[in-house]
Amino acid sequence: MDLQLTGKRALVTGSTSGLGEAIARRLAAEGATVVVHGRDEQRAVNVADAIRADGGSADIAVGDLATDAGAATVAGAATARGPIDILVNNAGGYDPIGWAQAAPAAWARLYEVNVISGVRMIQHLVPGMRERGWGRVVQIGGGLAGQPTADQPHYTATLAARHNLAVSLARDLAGTGVTSNVVAPGAIMVDAVRDLLVRLAPTHGWGETPDEIERAATADWVPNDTGRFGRPDEIASAVAYLASPLASYISGATLRVDGGTVRSVQ
Ligand SMILES: NC(=O)c1ccc[n+]([C@@H]2O[C@H](COP(=O)([O-])OP(=O)(O)OC[C@H]3O[C@@H](n4cnc5c(N)ncnc54)[C@H](OP(=O)(O)O)[C@@H]3O)[C@@H](O)[C@H]2O)c1
Repeated sequence: MDLQLTGKRALVTGSTSGLGEAIARRLAAEGATVVVHGRDEQRAVNVADAIRADGGSADIAVGDLATDAGAATVAGAATARGPIDILVNNAGGYDPIGWAQAAPAAWARLYEVNVISGVRMIQHLVPGMRERGWGRVVQIGGGLAGQPTADQPHYTATLAARHNLAVSLARDLAGTGVTSNVVAPGAIMVDAVRDLLVRLAPTHGWGETPDEIERAATADWVPNDTGRFGRPDEIASAVAYLASPLASYISGATLRVDGGTVRSVQ
């Protein structure tokens, strides 16, 4: 299927690793010119080089989206060689602490990094999409937005905020040709998650081979219909579809990519 992304220019925030890297690579493979972003310039260069080596087209933008100045720098670099048609707000962080440790300052810090970061990029880039009459905004949310656990309450609250603001933005964009949607991953096997599972396997009795560990950790932590964690490419496929002209009748929607981890009709 041709996703009709050739000629589009996409900024994927936080694409120096993990889900963002997979999304950037997929959009580039589908013909978009991709702006690779992160705070670490060398890692951004490495991803952009890999995209070019695969025959794709990539630029880089470097900056901390947790500050107004950093976001302005990123927006300037991203648009230096042409306007952005597709914004994927993916950058963000975790903070594996519980209620007892998560002081108000930790809540505020994570809200800056995971929520206001994306708002900044929306405010820089969506007015141009509006003027041109076409655009796509995709937030990376998460199943924990609607089905939180006791852990990382400040993190799961930031996911819920991402879902909420995406729907509000969709309503604001009514009739403009610009859509706003959410891709909600379940637990995805990025490098940091793989390392964590291997480290925890002996104490949890999850087994020894990668397959054994993944099956047991899934059953313990994220039981779902597939019996496994998701893969970054599976998130990238969903983003590529929502970012494409083929998804022009979808706005304010959440596409769950979680193997059925979230058990709800909505
Ligand atoms: N992995 C999962 O299972 C999962 C599930 C649900 C949702 N998510 C969401 O998916 C997104 C990506 O997660 P991931 O697992 O792929 O994590 P990751 O590998 O740690 O990637 C995070 C990316 O965000 C960038 N970043 C972090 N803080 C930033 C800041 N202040 N300013 C600019 N860039 C920043 C990092 O770039 P630099 O280090 O170069 O700055 C990196 O490229 C996150 O927003 C996360 O909440 C992940």
